[in-house]
Amino acid sequence: MPNVQQTEAVLAINGGEPVRKAPLPWELPGAHWIGDEELDLVVKVVKAKSPFRFYGLDSQEMVSKLEAAWCKRFNRKHSLGVSSGTSALRIALAAFGVGPGDEVLLPGYMWVSCIGAIVLQGAIPKLVDIDETFCMNPDDLVAKIGPKTKAVLVVNMSGAPGHIEKIAKIAHEKGLKVLEDCAQALGSSHFGKPAGCFGDISIFSFQLNKNITSGEGGMLLCDDEELYKRCVAIHDLGYTRSDEGRLMPNDERYQMWGFGSRMNELSGAMLLAQLGKLDQITGAMRNAKWKIRRALEGTPGLSFRNIPDPDGDSGPFMITMYPNKEKCLEFTKALVAEGIRGPEGSMTCIPMSDWGMHWYYNNPSLVKKRSISSEGFPWTHPANDFGKGYSYEKGTLPKCDELSERSAMLAIASTLTDKDVEDIIAAFKKVAATVLA
Ligand SMILES: Cc1ncc(COP(=O)(O)O)c(C=O)c1O
Repeated sequence: MPNVQQTEAVLAINGGEPVRKAPLPWELPGAHWIGDEELDLVVKVVKAKSPFRFYGLDSQEMVSKLEAAWCKRFNRKHSLGVSSGTSALRIALAAFGVGPGDEVLLPGYMWVSCIGAIVLQGAIPKLVDIDETFCMNPDDLVAKIGPKTKAVLVVNMSGAPGHIEKIAKIAHEKGLKVLEDCAQALGSSHFGKPAGCFGDISIFSFQLNKNITSGEGGMLLCDDEELYKRCVAIHDLGYTRSDEGRLMPNDERYQMWGFGSRMNELSGAMLLAQLGKLDQITGAMRNAKWKIRRALEGTPGLSFRNIPDPDGDSGPFMITMYPNKEKCLEFTKALVAEGIRGPEGSMTCIPMSDWGMHWYYNNPSLVKKRSISSEGFPWTHPANDFGKGYSYEKGTLPKCDELSERSAMLAIASTLTDKDVEDIIAAFKKVAATVLA
């Protein structure tokens, strides 16, 4: 007769008892924390009948207050609320003056919006490999900088920066603009300096999956007055506004074109309330994540993403690495069977090969060099001939390809209980004992 120890160790995927049956909470860090504070501020906007940021019956100036709070938190001179992280990326590149004849370097692990912003601006994206930080590899950046490079789009992925300081230094020494994408890493920092303080322009997203949310929304940060004014005009209708919020088309310094990407007061109100909770949200995720990670460190066959400064991690994801693709898939499947999964429709526990358009080669519009104009802009623009031989097919970035196949991701909800944390640790240990033995 098998002893109790052996019976318990049978994996759920092989017919054993799962570690837990109830689903883990949804990811969506900020959403769990929406409550009376958000409601009170949104109600103020509604009662004042003033949802537009630049003027209204009785403007509550929520977006302006949010921008002021943002400048203070990051100790930067200018901030601008916008309608999404995607629009923030485009506005930033346009403010830099990026266009045909330019290439912008970006990592192969990012989000489709990063590529789209470059292409829609008429420039050519050039891929840079990552390292085990799952962010841009500084050595490959140096190798990829060329005569057409105008800017570096560095992305702080999955909750934390990689070698951000080094990358910004390399780019600045070469006279390149740095666009820092903090959409996935609000509230993180790198040895005491917040993510959002490394770019000539740094951007954020407040879409539902982000550390704080208003459903949709974005923010830009910069110090340079001229860049800021360009952002202001471009995010709006191409012109600046007077103190009364009226457009000033006759100001010859800012006669441009606009993306129509203003933030509205309802979003501003929600985000002001959410910002007040940011440190609690990231604190909860970081504590839970590192408790799990530290309990598992040293498990044979299991390794972890390199986070240069663990204290600065905002915590929404734990990335694990396995000896090969087969072990990774087997491990993750077994973990899910043990109950380490979220509610139907969530992406709580997945092999990173399922992480879609975060990987360059999973973006068909990039791989096939698609266009939204009939003559194929920007790929066909004569000034972009230099990029004709660039490939975006799988195989272009060896480390990205390798890590996308042998790593997995666990979303760390911002409301995990001690019991949830214990179950996650127990399930990893149980699966490791069989799958990685
Ligand atoms: C790295 C990164 N950049 C940009 C964005 C775009 O943000 P949004 O969804 O607000 O347009 C996202 C969000 O999904 C992202 O993850």
